[in-house]
Amino acid sequence: MRTPSQSLLSWSALLCASGLLSSLFSVGVAVKENDFKKCHQSGFCKRNRDYADKAIAQGSSWQAPYKILPTEASFKNGLFHATILKSIDDKGSTVELPLTVSFHKSGTARVTIDEKQRQEKNIELRHNSQARKERYNEAETWAIVGGTTVDVDAKGSYSGDSGIKIQYGPNSTFEADIKYDPYSIEFKRDGYAQLKLNDRGLINLEHWRPKVEKPVAEEKKDDGENAEEKKEEFPAEPEGEDESTWWDETFGGNTDSKPRGPESVALDITFFGYDHVYGIPEHAGPLSLKETRGGDDAYTEPYRLYNSDVFEYILDSPMTLYGAIPLMQAHSKDSTVAVFWLNAAETWIDITKAKESKNPLALGKGPKIDTQTHWISEAGVMDLFIFLGPTPSDVSKAFGELTGTTAMPQEFSIGYHQCRWNYVSDDDVKEVDRKMDRHQIPYDVIWLDIEYTEEKKYFTWDKDMFKDPISMGQQLDAHGRKLVVIIDPHIKNIGSYPVIDELKANSLAIKNKEGRDFDGWCWPGSSMWIDCFNPSAIKWWKSLFKYNRFKGTMENTWLWNDMNEPSVFNGPEVTMPKDNLHYGSWEHRDVHNINGMTFHNATYQALLSRKKGELRRPFVLTRSFYAGSQRVGAMWTGDNQANWEHLGASIPMILNQGVSGFPFAGADVGGFFGNPEPELQSRWYQAGAFYPFFRGHAHIDARRREPYLLAEPYRTIVASALRLRYSLMPSWYTAFHQAHRDGSPIIRPMYWTHPSSEGGFSIDNQFFLGSTGILVKPVVSRGKTIEDIYIPDDEAYYNYFTYQQLPTKKGKTLKVDAPIESIPVLMRGGHIFPRRDIPRRSVQLMKFDDYTLIVVVSKDGTAEGQLYADDGDSFDYQKGEYIHRTFKLEGSKLTSTDAEGRDAKYIKRGDWLKNMQDVAVDKIIIVGAPSFWADKKEVKLETEGKQSIVKLEYIKGAANQGPFATVGRVGAKIGADWTIDFT
Ligand SMILES: *[C@@H]1O[C@H](CO)[C@@H](O)[C@H](O)[C@H]1NC(C)=O
Ligand SMILES: *[C@@H]1O[C@H](CO)[C@@H](O)[C@H](O)[C@H]1NC(C)=O
Repeated sequence: MRTPSQSLLSWSALLCASGLLSSLFSVGVAVKENDFKKCHQSGFCKRNRDYADKAIAQGSSWQAPYKILPTEASFKNGLFHATILKSIDDKGSTVELPLTVSFHKSGTARVTIDEKQRQEKNIELRHNSQARKERYNEAETWAIVGGTTVDVDAKGSYSGDSGIKIQYGPNSTFEADIKYDPYSIEFKRDGYAQLKLNDRGLINLEHWRPKVEKPVAEEKKDDGENAEEKKEEFPAEPEGEDESTWWDETFGGNTDSKPRGPESVALDITFFGYDHVYGIPEHAGPLSLKETRGGDDAYTEPYRLYNSDVFEYILDSPMTLYGAIPLMQAHSKDSTVAVFWLNAAETWIDITKAKESKNPLALGKGPKIDTQTHWISEAGVMDLFIFLGPTPSDVSKAFGELTGTTAMPQEFSIGYHQCRWNYVSDDDVKEVDRKMDRHQIPYDVIWLDIEYTEEKKYFTWDKDMFKDPISMGQQLDAHGRKLVVIIDPHIKNIGSYPVIDELKANSLAIKNKEGRDFDGWCWPGSSMWIDCFNPSAIKWWKSLFKYNRFKGTMENTWLWNDMNEPSVFNGPEVTMPKDNLHYGSWEHRDVHNINGMTFHNATYQALLSRKKGELRRPFVLTRSFYAGSQRVGAMWTGDNQANWEHLGASIPMILNQGVSGFPFAGADVGGFFGNPEPELQSRWYQAGAFYPFFRGHAHIDARRREPYLLAEPYRTIVASALRLRYSLMPSWYTAFHQAHRDGSPIIRPMYWTHPSSEGGFSIDNQFFLGSTGILVKPVVSRGKTIEDIYIPDDEAYYNYFTYQQLPTKKGKTLKVDAPIESIPVLMRGGHIFPRRDIPRRSVQLMKFDDYTLIVVVSKDGTAEGQLYADDGDSFDYQKGEYIHRTFKLEGSKLTSTDAEGRDAKYIKRGDWLKNMQDVAVDKIIIVGAPSFWADKKEVKLETEGKQSIVKLEYIKGAANQGPFATVGRVGAKIGADWTIDFT
């Protein structure tokens, strides 16, 4: 949402009032790049980068000191077990690292490495810490929901004592080639190497070791000023290991006590013959990830994943943002593979590209480049999943099986959301609602930021400004609209506030390193944080949302979870100390990146249980996320700025969310900080109309900018972008359903839809909407009136608005006029998509409107598409209460059939399906209709055992319009089978 600097005035006032001025606050005031760690300031990152440099400098003489003892290895029923021995000195000492490689029916493989001594809790913690002794191994509890059934048919064949080859996956086309000394695993598909773990020998698990105390140094330990002096007294360790960041670390005035000492896990993974890698959100940069170790147009820092409240974030940067999904896909012509690094601790990823590929497949075909990656996490077991594709959609599907797919949304939530920090009163909300209507601007949801509460105490209302929240909710409900209120994870630590009393009394807060309730600073001042790793905390959280407890909320109230990284204004890097303790005595360092998801999930669970017998799909927006968050809601890209660069950056960021399994994503339309000029605001609405999550939002210091405040022509421009979104609602909902079924992105980049069209692999500013064939390239530059759109194939393309076929050529760009009032939108031949064309105030009011079908004829005269519809609110779709149609144009016939081959007789009919009985296909527009239809006036419709004649009109086309045909007043029921015969 924001951070304090911009509202310094109101903040200072609050602090003075509470008598708590101070330096605490200086942390929040100047958050900028330097307030977040660079790799060299993060001990384990620096140690692993240095280790890599040392290894690489030794060239082929380098051998990783990790090997498997052949006698200790076994393969049975799809599982390979072994112990890796790590040599730790030249006297032959080793540590034991248990390894499991499992092969799953889904075609994924999983590699897990633990450390025996820590597993057996046979270590000593320093500082009397109460933390757990093991490496964190519960990330899967939160992230993984399926896809791990072991493939007992996987076949292994030993290569003497040097290793084992295991065949698995579809028709045994995948192979894992495990080498013992040094340890490495190469993954092959159809006999060709795709990727290799420990290819460059950079594997590193920092084993436990006792701290050898040096009395004098210990005394001086905390004396920062004498650091230099200390170094002189105690020269480097004889073995040359740099211990300086092993035992504690200080950054920005905060010291991390690190009771378990160094424990990082790191691994290099090489993708053979792949020159593009995507994923590992959240970063503000291009979709095709950059190299990170310097060079032309490369970063010098690794990509970082450490969920943080980075306000006014910088663009084109590997710096961490609010959420983390450690899934990386590698792509080259006709081939995609991926790796999911299941770790919740601070993680850094280096990417470099080697010009000489080792992949024989790459010879003569595709790029001769290998992408080399180096994954470095602070703590936890080493745990990763390997996906061998071969297509981007195979990877999306397998990742969806593993971490879950996007939840079926509340249908209203894909309409337009009107937000600002803050709508100041219930009257203000009502007034905005009325004005949207007066100007005929559709919207579905109005939002309340933190100021609606009484002194930032969640579950309360400001008594003066929100006297009557129920009447506000009722006015919204009159047009099917909703209210979203914010609830954050920090609970104000103040007397006579039942929520904090209960949190403390039941010991449900995150603890500090001494085991006492952690107290830090956030919006309310002194606060405590609910620990949603604790099942009792979720149970309690649920009780707070009951309608009779959170008074003023009603059935159309939904939720927004912000600041859940968690943001702690006076904490290290604006978050929690890493040595804080969670439920189960895990350190915050172990679980940091998952924390936001557990809170988001708790709110989701709470909304499921607001009232007995009321089972509706929750809507909860989150800022922080991890792999799996897609199961419980939507995300947005946090505190962006009202400038053209941020508008441009939003598109690759949202595309990246989609290919990383969390497609219900959007950016603040208009930009959070600052005031967009009307042209920027208009262009942003035009782009936002194609974000899966579409919300206008503004900072408290930004001027009011509800769409009706714009002067003409901008108001009309924005209103028509909104109406375009609303007319395409059935297509959006169908795309969400597809994402729900198979993990596919809702808006799709070129490499994903056209995996063999190399010219599109680094294009990240245009996209397809689901499988509609609608290709969009939002204008993101000031004064631009012509857009170049990349055309990925030989199909016919038409202008969305004029139906003109365009002079496209595969692999070339097409110039499209894009004056301010228009959005560059094309339609690809071969698709059929549904619309609802009657303009309404909200999605709910469109629920039983008739449909329009747009048939876009391909070069060979065919087209196909789908519609999915259900009540958009309950879980009845899980019992089969939905409509799912396939439309097909083939030969001279256009047909509608059940997409799943279900027999209508056996579909149970509830209220929604009964109401849908009368909903029909009203109009069909055939774009690119053959010219021999020109004299046709009628066509035959056959449905429900009856034949009738319906009117066809063929429009020849003109200078500004392409030829097309319409079939009017079709009247065929949307849920019924029908055929139109054009002969
Ligand atoms: C597996 O093999 C069968 C028979 O050769 C073939 O029909 C099928 O398409 C193959 N499946 C995959 C996923 O390659
Ligand atoms: C979500 O909450 C449910 C119910 O308490 C729990 O079983 C599940 O593990 C939680 N998942 C996450 C990701 O927090």
